[in-house]
Amino acid sequence: MADLKQFTLAEVAKHNTATDLWMIIDDKVYDVTKFQAEHPGGEEVLVEAAGKDATTEFVDVGHSSDAKEQMKQFVVGEIIEAERKKKKAACQPDCQRMAIIAGSALAAGIGLVLIYKALKK
Ligand code: HEM
Repeated sequence: MADLKQFTLAEVAKHNTATDLWMIIDDKVYDVTKFQAEHPGGEEVLVEAAGKDATTEFVDVGHSSDAKEQMKQFVVGEIIEAERKKKKAACQPDCQRMAIIAGSALAAGIGLVLIYKALKK
């Protein structure tokens, strides 16, 4: 993500009222002050999550992909790396690709050994 403004948890925690309502979802900081009235899930749940990390609550509701698309317009920044929940993985999504390649290579290796053994008989 290109150069988002960096916030500490303490900074986000200051925006914890209905008239100044920020929240953290997946280490991104959202200003949903203006969105409250439009939120299909109501204002109250957003106010309850004000200034806090609402990732679990957001995920538990099972928000639609439309909701996830919509929330992008409210991003004001992200949590500084040292305070993020998700530490940057050493390799992602490369990790997954590597795992698939390694898995396939292993399967191919086992296959070759089996063929070799069969031919030797
Ligand atoms: C930027 C943040 C958020 C956005 C853009 C957002 C958007 C939406 C949208 C579009 C819906 C309609 C259903 C859907 O499309 O999934 C919805 C429903 C709902 N949301 Fe959110 N939401 C946000 C944060 C939250 C948070 C933090 C909570 C809980 C603490 C929450 C609780 C709910 C609930 C309870 C519903 C109603 C579900 C239902 O009636 O089936 N939302 N939200």
